[in-house]
Amino acid sequence: MPRIDSEDAFERIFSAGNLWRICRSEDAYTVLRREAAVGDDEPFAMMARSYLKDVEFPVRPETTEDREAIRYVNQEAFGGDAEAKLVDDLRDGGFVESSLVVENEGKVIAHILFSRVTITTKSGTVDAVSLAPMAVLPKHQRKGIGTRLLWAGLDACRKRGHRIVLVLGHPDFYREFGFSAKLAQRLESPFGGGEAWMALEIVPDATKGVEGRVEFSPPFSVFE
Ligand SMILES: CC(C)(COP(=O)(O)OP(=O)(O)OC[C@H]1O[C@@H](n2cnc3c(N)ncnc32)[C@H](O)[C@@H]1OP(=O)(O)O)[C@@H](O)C(=O)NCCC(=O)NCCS
Repeated sequence: MPRIDSEDAFERIFSAGNLWRICRSEDAYTVLRREAAVGDDEPFAMMARSYLKDVEFPVRPETTEDREAIRYVNQEAFGGDAEAKLVDDLRDGGFVESSLVVENEGKVIAHILFSRVTITTKSGTVDAVSLAPMAVLPKHQRKGIGTRLLWAGLDACRKRGHRIVLVLGHPDFYREFGFSAKLAQRLESPFGGGEAWMALEIVPDATKGVEGRVEFSPPFSVFE
């Protein structure tokens, strides 16, 4: 995207009043960060920085001290214990690839976890990661926090060399990130899922020619 050269252009791209939409577009977010990084006297740098303050949520890997808060976030978001227990069991079993939290005023308000799965094909196995669970405290939902957390999570997966991410979740939410039910059609899920069973290629064409059954780690068996 070119540099922004007028207030109109700025407003057009970032549609003020609808800030979380910036989070939904990786391009808009990248432009915003670039503009914010320009010198102090640049006309849009200050505007960009003030926008960023509203859409940037500190995302960081979980620490031992976060465990109780992560349990709470999952219980509140899902209205039950199953996902909170899944997180504990995945951690205890050593299956976690990446577990990130969003902090707000010193409290964990959102959490995302990726764990290892294997796709068993006729010609061998293919590694992938499963995104589950993901949770934002109810009173913080629909402000773009889940979106930023998911971009950060996918970035972490990319940096760790993962190629395929699988999820069973709300199609409207995950589609925006490139998750697709079509890409997951040849990957058999033990949970079924229809349109909610989706794959994302971190590396282009990573699912090409891959057909088989996805084997989840033992803590997921309670959901089968
Ligand atoms: C799903 C969840 C993680 C999204 O986080 P969030 O911070 O609320 O999402 P964002 O604000 O970044 O994104 C908002 C947009 O995503 C979509 N979206 C968010 N939650 C959705 C849901 N439950 N179903 C369908 N679309 C959803 C909507 O398009 C929404 O836009 P809108 O508010 O204009 O309708 C969060 O709502 C949550 O924790 N839900 C309960 C637990 C859960 O279902 N986890 C996911 C399991 S797959």
